[in-house]
Amino acid sequence: MSVTVCLADYEKNGTFTRAQLAELLSDPGSDTLELLRMKADRIRRESVGDTVHIRGVIEFSNHCIRTCAYCGINRFNEKVNRYRIPIAEIKAVARGAANRGFHTVVLQSGDDFFYTAEDLADAVAEIKLTGMAVTLSVGERPQADYQLWRQAGADRYLLKFETSDPELYARLHPGTSLERRLECLRQLRELGYQVGSGFMVGLPGQTIDSLAGDLLLLRELELEMAGIGPFIPHPGTPLHVAETGSVPMTLRVLALARMMIPWAHLPATTALSSLSADGRRLGLTGGGNVVMPNLTPLAYRRLYEIYPHKAEVTATPDQLLAETKTLVHDLGRTIAQDAGHGRRLATAGA
Ligand code: 5AD
Repeated sequence: MSVTVCLADYEKNGTFTRAQLAELLSDPGSDTLELLRMKADRIRRESVGDTVHIRGVIEFSNHCIRTCAYCGINRFNEKVNRYRIPIAEIKAVARGAANRGFHTVVLQSGDDFFYTAEDLADAVAEIKLTGMAVTLSVGERPQADYQLWRQAGADRYLLKFETSDPELYARLHPGTSLERRLECLRQLRELGYQVGSGFMVGLPGQTIDSLAGDLLLLRELELEMAGIGPFIPHPGTPLHVAETGSVPMTLRVLALARMMIPWAHLPATTALSSLSADGRRLGLTGGGNVVMPNLTPLAYRRLYEIYPHKAEVTATPDQLLAETKTLVHDLGRTIAQDAGHGRRLATAGA
């Protein structure tokens, strides 16, 4: 099946089959990439509009009990200087974000059970008083914890499935399973969170067929948000000798993601910016509508090294905000002035 036939079918059906996705992912032409990016950009405009949502991320702890083979802060990496930001400081950083005009704050950390469910619920409840939306991204926790945070006012939860291939998942995440990850995503959905997930492009052992599966899974999960970034090998991990994910392939997957879940919020990821100075712009012009500036206090920023050469380790929140505003303006788009709550279907209200 040719690229043209796949795209004509998409116009009719509003989706791709696994075989079509595999075809579009394996076609080597750079003109195909440009065609997909143009389509994705049009669909982005029609379904989520021209505004760009800004989410401030606070990486509050790099302690982690997991052993994910790709991740620089996995438990086995003894070279990491570990830090934990006290709850009071997390709240203060969040207040700063609210004062700067952020409408969403994302509290992210390794899977760190030092923070009890109650600790985080307390942080969420207080941050909610600012009027901002709160996204949590603290990994796999018991359902009761997810429930407590939801009751405390958390709006969204971010938990990437990383790959839809169960065998690859098991190899990359010793001792746990894709099934368990999907169970968490189901629980979050049932509790009424807006759910974000996503995956990496270029993982060692990933195939075109499994990437097609990743894109289908985004749709099956009816995600409100999806983060898609290139895999970047970290020297302190078992995958340090693996190849880096490709920027053009990541852009191709991002464009297809926009076509599979037109209604969703898709960030131009930091991982993409880390590989390409132009990453943010490329993400925003090829399906993306979200930017997530890093608000982690500078003293800790470098230590949250999930992959090397991470972008934005030295810029202050004000600098990052100014850069984002300039970029968005240059693209002829505007910064969203609302919380940018997610929706699950193209026809649903904003
Ligand atoms: N390269 C790219 N992305 C990574 N992540 C973790 N480690 C890496 C890496 N080496 C991503 C995962 C995770 C998110 C926090 O960062 O997708 O969910």
